Amino acid sequence: MSLAFQQEGKTFVASVTGLDLRTPMGTQEAQALEQALAKYGLLILRNQQIGDDQQQAFIEKFGPPVVATLKELATGHPHFYDIATVDSDGQPIPADSVRGMYLLGNLLWHTDGSQNQPPIRLTALHARVLPPKPPRTEYADMCAAWEALPKQRQIELEGLMVEHSIYWLRQKMGLNMSDFSAETLASRPAVVHPLVRQHPVSGRKSLYLASHASHVIGWPLEKGRALIDELTAHATQPQFVYHLEWEANDLAIWDDRWTMHRSTPYNDPHPRVMRWCAVRELHNV
Ligand SMILES: [Fe+2]
Repeated sequence: MSLAFQQEGKTFVASVTGLDLRTPMGTQEAQALEQALAKYGLLILRNQQIGDDQQQAFIEKFGPPVVATLKELATGHPHFYDIATVDSDGQPIPADSVRGMYLLGNLLWHTDGSQNQPPIRLTALHARVLPPKPPRTEYADMCAAWEALPKQRQIELEGLMVEHSIYWLRQKMGLNMSDFSAETLASRPAVVHPLVRQHPVSGRKSLYLASHASHVIGWPLEKGRALIDELTAHATQPQFVYHLEWEANDLAIWDDRWTMHRSTPYNDPHPRVMRWCAVRELHNV
């Protein structure tokens, strides 16, 4: 069966057929997925019965995988994190633990890796263990959100630069700067990205936002935060959002350059394990 894409959302998102990742994907297929990511933003590959080696082979087709340095989310694999309700021994992760706090942070709209420079370009998430009623993941089309803004508003916004920081998101979760060690603060400095980005393949412009977005460079702090909140509310209106309903062994891959996402609350005792990997931009943004 040849590779095919079926649009699933109103403005973006496609399901992919004709690809079984138990056997390695070819370069042509990877290039077709790259083109599709520029067009659809989020691709869903249903029922991919793969393990770590096949997931690693898949992500490597798009570039060197991100090295998993956060010990709080470690899987023991050098390139994977687990978005999970249980640890590697199958024990529930307490909501008030550091790892639990990371998971709670995923409930906020964000763009993977925006707190880093260079940021993440693509993320791939594989459903390893799903409960009977899995929580969905929500995605926002940041190109459509940009294109819906009045022209005058677009002119006002282009050229603005925004500081992104992991500490800003953690402060929203109730932590204080004093909760971070000097070593951590030194190793993960805040970074600056443009508020408006242009996709190198599609040429479309998009808002680049995340819960890590702290303030606008050169603006009073509160004015910048109000703008970020206003634009986030605009971009996550129902007409720009797609709800991904996960099924067993689904693999989702998305383009972080023009999509934002969040997980939805999940309090079921059934375990849930999603294995995460990603590739970065090649250059600072
Ligand atoms: Fe994420």
